[in-house]
Amino acid sequence: MSSRPSALRGVFVPPGDKSISHRALIFGALAGGDCEIRGRLRAGDVDHTVGVLRQLGVSIEERADTVLVHGCGGRFNRPESALDAGSSATTVRLMAGALASWGQSVTFTGSSSLIKRPMGRIFGPLARMGVDWRAEDGGECLPIRMKGGPLQGRAFSLQVASAQVQSGLLLAGLSAEGQTSVTLPRPVRDHTVRMMQHLGLQITTEDGLTVRLNGPQRVPGFELTVPGDASSAAFVGTAAAMLPGSDVEIREVNLNPGRIGWLRVLERMGADITVASRGRWAGEPVGDVRIRAQGLRGTQITADEIPGLIDELPVLAMAAAVAEGVTSVEGAEELRVKESDRIETVATGLRALGVEVDTAPGGFCVQGSPDGVRSGAVDAAGDHRIALSFSVLSLRADGVVALRGKDTVRDSFPAFFRVLETLQNG
Ligand code: S3P
Repeated sequence: MSSRPSALRGVFVPPGDKSISHRALIFGALAGGDCEIRGRLRAGDVDHTVGVLRQLGVSIEERADTVLVHGCGGRFNRPESALDAGSSATTVRLMAGALASWGQSVTFTGSSSLIKRPMGRIFGPLARMGVDWRAEDGGECLPIRMKGGPLQGRAFSLQVASAQVQSGLLLAGLSAEGQTSVTLPRPVRDHTVRMMQHLGLQITTEDGLTVRLNGPQRVPGFELTVPGDASSAAFVGTAAAMLPGSDVEIREVNLNPGRIGWLRVLERMGADITVASRGRWAGEPVGDVRIRAQGLRGTQITADEIPGLIDELPVLAMAAAVAEGVTSVEGAEELRVKESDRIETVATGLRALGVEVDTAPGGFCVQGSPDGVRSGAVDAAGDHRIALSFSVLSLRADGVVALRGKDTVRDSFPAFFRVLETLQNG
């Protein structure tokens, strides 16, 4: 990958939000009628949710920019083989909840990276509601066989601030008897709660930390438009902030407060950012963001901020590498159990490009230099966000960055390289 700093200029409309696309498809399958979803993300992770739903007999028709899901009201068909979630933990953790009251056994499996990730955090609580589950290796990793049945609502207090776990439990709670409540240690992206409210389901929230719903409740047929993906926006937006002379407008992007921590960090680092609201789509705030490059300086990212920018930490580490001074991240232990151990993959990649990095169990510290980085070889370790991040940093390298596994961007942002090229010519 080559490397002359070349400013990004123009307009970028991000692809549909990944988190919201998964949820819309799963609610669509649970619905008692037809559902029309406009602008779903077409990328590997969401395609795996479509694939899993089809394995379960859900009829899904893809049209130009719309997908039509013929909701089966939770009456699935027995799949002929293990449900293949690819590299998508969201697919497993949300579908486990969606299947929790269905009295058939299914097995979840996935890619070599997914089968290393912790799943006890969802199956453990689901077991308290009435689900049987067993990992093939006797631990908590895929392949896992689960058998749902009649569910009892429970009160959960989670140790990990996980939107996926909260969402899986709320999906199960919809078909449980009595109240399900989930309390988080810190606020997370609340797309599931917003979608439930948008669909007219009864769910209440307290302090941004506890949500409660009384089951059972039926999901009605619906129509919705998926806002632009805040995380894909972050790769382009951070690239713009890092490349002198850049001026990029990102349109129709999801501005959910649980997803835009990266904007606050870039602003703190010195980027010139303006945000204009466009209103609400599917219960989510949507707007336009303009980002202009200005010299960046290092910053401290604290534990409270982590859930609101967890997926953007790798690309913020790239901004840190070209900022003046030191950037530190703490309270981000969860980075170690993503598609790769992102603390190690970020640190190893940065060091290969001559950047000084220290790591800790829950974070890292980057010594930046506004001069950019040197050429070198980096392995994306099968992780789309690492591939995207180092592709961004390679734009500030003084030679070629050989990036192994960059095609993994297909999991979340297949058009990324085309978008960069267009903005570089903009
Ligand atoms: C997601 C939640 C986050 C995030 C993941 C998508 C979601 O994971 O990292 O990419 O759609 O709910 P956790 O809930 O495990 O933090």
